[in-house]
Amino acid sequence: MGLFAGLVLATCVAALLFFLIRRDSGKKYNLPPGPTPLPVIGNVHQLDFKCLFKCFVKLSERYGPVMTVYLGSQRTVVLNGFEAVWEALQDHADEFAGRAHIPAIARITEGYGLLVSNGERWKQLRRFSLTTLRNYGMGKRSIEEWIQEEARNLVEEFRKNEGSPCDPTFFLSRAVSNVICSMVFGERFEYQDKNFVRLLGLINSAFQIATSPWTQLYNMFPRVLRYLPGPHKRLFENVEELKVFIADMIEKHKQDLEPHSPRDYIDSFLVKIHEEKESPSSEFHHKNMLYSVLNLFLAGTETTSTTLRYGLLLLIKYPHIQDRVQQEIDSEVGRDRPPAMEDRRKMPITDATIHEIQRFADIVPLNVPHKTTRDTSFRGYSIPEGTVVLPMLHSVLYDETQWDSPNSFNPTNFLDENSSFQKKNAFLPFSTGKRSCAGEGLARMELFLFFTTLLQNLSFRSLGDPGEIDVTPKVSTFSKVPRPFELVVRSR
Ligand code: HEM
Repeated sequence: MGLFAGLVLATCVAALLFFLIRRDSGKKYNLPPGPTPLPVIGNVHQLDFKCLFKCFVKLSERYGPVMTVYLGSQRTVVLNGFEAVWEALQDHADEFAGRAHIPAIARITEGYGLLVSNGERWKQLRRFSLTTLRNYGMGKRSIEEWIQEEARNLVEEFRKNEGSPCDPTFFLSRAVSNVICSMVFGERFEYQDKNFVRLLGLINSAFQIATSPWTQLYNMFPRVLRYLPGPHKRLFENVEELKVFIADMIEKHKQDLEPHSPRDYIDSFLVKIHEEKESPSSEFHHKNMLYSVLNLFLAGTETTSTTLRYGLLLLIKYPHIQDRVQQEIDSEVGRDRPPAMEDRRKMPITDATIHEIQRFADIVPLNVPHKTTRDTSFRGYSIPEGTVVLPMLHSVLYDETQWDSPNSFNPTNFLDENSSFQKKNAFLPFSTGKRSCAGEGLARMELFLFFTTLLQNLSFRSLGDPGEIDVTPKVSTFSKVPRPFELVVRSR
């Protein structure tokens, strides 16, 4: 046998043994049912990585709402439907609050920062970030004022293109990203600023690669893919450039920091580092700051701007819904002052429409992977500590037991018979429980203020027949985005 063939055989035997050992370690547990896996590849041959969530929904018709699937050798418990997701994340909140090890993200962040960390590190960073992101204002302005200003700039940017077909993608991502820049760096950028445009290009392409089937393959077989060429290499290069940008911003902040009046998230983090410098258990240090800031950009920019873009597509597809929202804005806010958060409770139609946009768009269909923090008993099964868990948000936002017509866009899902706004437990686009989105409050404020300010000042129409518009998503492994489209803007 040649050396090469010998090596291949040895690698296969080692992989098989590794797999059998991993499988064996699951035997003493009463794992949820699932399709029979093959050595090394697990259930990969039975899945379509372009739309995993659809495969999981299909498989769960056979195996039930709690099932085990092997992604490569990675044992993964998939939760399907509102009841199972809610029960896990609310009633077993601590056990399901771990963040899974995602090799591509782990390589980028080295385990630092809020999004990927666990245990004491995660607790400290989460508490700090929630407090700092909350809406009682940082620096001279409240977050609401920053968003209102950004929404005005966005209206002006759209007006420059009045009457001609335009793709809203970059206007929206610049506005959304500027809100995070305001909070994190204490400044916004002009939409044409070269550095800013470069930064957004990097975030956008990092997000696309990170959610693609290729990166999913990297996540399953990192030891092999690490040495092969492919788009994942570009992901790591892009993120390196983003890190340099953020590190420069941190250095600038250090030079003119005034500890008694922090201007933004970075200032607040620097103050915290200083306050806790004598504490050996403190997680407030440079790496956690750098990666938490990176997390806010990566988690906050694409999600919010994709939702706004999906919303505009739905509003040009259904102009009568756009008109109803505009009528409500005219009667409750008028045209002479900017919409504010306190207007929301008087605007059930607008509120319901924004909720329905988020439900229908379902932009994080699989959720961000969790893991069990200890051996866990759940619905008669026992799930070992460290098992990856996917509490599928798609299965909640489209659960037929929770919504009258889950597959169509219908704001009345959130209105009662008196046309008052009606809360729904299964509205979980931000997930739920201890690990739920840390930017939910900010994102909801952005969605309300951006949509209302845009529709107060502008109307959006399709280029052709609205009936022809395809609102089905372009799906990737971990994301759903609207298909590319153009619209026409008119001042009102
Ligand atoms: C429409 C917009 C958004 C959606 C749909 C969304 C959705 C999500 C989801 C589904 C998760 C995972 C929750 C889980 O693991 O159970 C998450 C986590 C997170 N999101 Fe958001 N998000 C949005 C906007 C934002 C914004 C604006 C920010 C920050 C400024 C942000 C920051 C984060 C962070 C830091 C985490 C990780 C939390 C943790 O691991 O403890 N998100 N988001």
